[in-house]
Amino acid sequence: MSTTLPKILVTRKIPAAGLACLDGKANYRILRTQGVPSYDEVKAAVRGADAILPLLTERIDGDILDNAPTVKVVANMAVGFDNVDVAAATARGVMVTNTPGVLTETTADFAWALLMAAARRVVEGDRFTRDGRWKTWEPEGLLGQDLYGATLGIIGFGRIGSAVARRAVGFDMDVIYYNPSPLKGEARQVAEDVGARSADFEELMRESDFISVHVPLTADTRHLIGEGALALVKPTAVLVNTSRGPVVDPAALYQALSSGGLWAAALDVFEKEPVVPDDPLLSLPNLVVAPHLGSASVTTRNRMAVMAAENALAALAGHRPPNLVNGDVWKG
Ligand code: GLV
Repeated sequence: MSTTLPKILVTRKIPAAGLACLDGKANYRILRTQGVPSYDEVKAAVRGADAILPLLTERIDGDILDNAPTVKVVANMAVGFDNVDVAAATARGVMVTNTPGVLTETTADFAWALLMAAARRVVEGDRFTRDGRWKTWEPEGLLGQDLYGATLGIIGFGRIGSAVARRAVGFDMDVIYYNPSPLKGEARQVAEDVGARSADFEELMRESDFISVHVPLTADTRHLIGEGALALVKPTAVLVNTSRGPVVDPAALYQALSSGGLWAAALDVFEKEPVVPDDPLLSLPNLVVAPHLGSASVTTRNRMAVMAAENALAALAGHRPPNLVNGDVWKG
């Protein structure tokens, strides 16, 4: 491979479609084909790179960037970019990009999968059956909560939140949403189309039968769903989080689920990932869990990899990358 090509550090093996975009255009090195590289491994490996293509499992901060003064772009293969210190990147003139849009529908589908699994006790039913505990049809066995006609509260009515709302129409649900800022573009149209009503945060927590969380992780949203918020919910409510783990306070969630304050929850994301098997939350039968699978369809992961690669290549070619997060660094 030509040494004049720009050098990209790909922190972990990504779908081949993304790597194929880089072929012939960049000299890329995959740091780890299995497992997650440690912070120090990434820090050592970035030296001499022109771009980094990390996943959400790698923290990219000012120290890492100081070790790689040649890096022009951090092309994150995720829509969320809380793993990247954007302020540190901006201060160093480094572009940060993400992968919005391509995973919206896939993640919305998964939020519904979890919502239905928790509402209708699918995982408990599966275990019950496999354990040989199914002796007869029980008139009061494993009763769940109806979706049909219920109120769905969406926290964060952006791309994914509004895609979740669109799917609620088929269940004839009332949709309410809390969004920290006025709705933009397509989300505003969706709210109108599905008749979604804006609510303040407390109102949403009080009125919803199902609560689905779709905010990015920021200083303002960390532990947004904590003891105070969970004290407001209906005891029959179901909470679903497919956004970022730290948006929900795990100790408060444990308390609410184990005391009957909250009927059930489903989590695709955790404060610390991977969640360990002896985490107290995992002892709760009314919690459905998944290992951060929101965007995990074959098509979507391919698209995310391609998008991240194209962002990196655009930045390296001196173009404004399509999904630039920190527009301030763009000098044109
Ligand atoms: C997945 O969680 C993503 O942010 O893309």
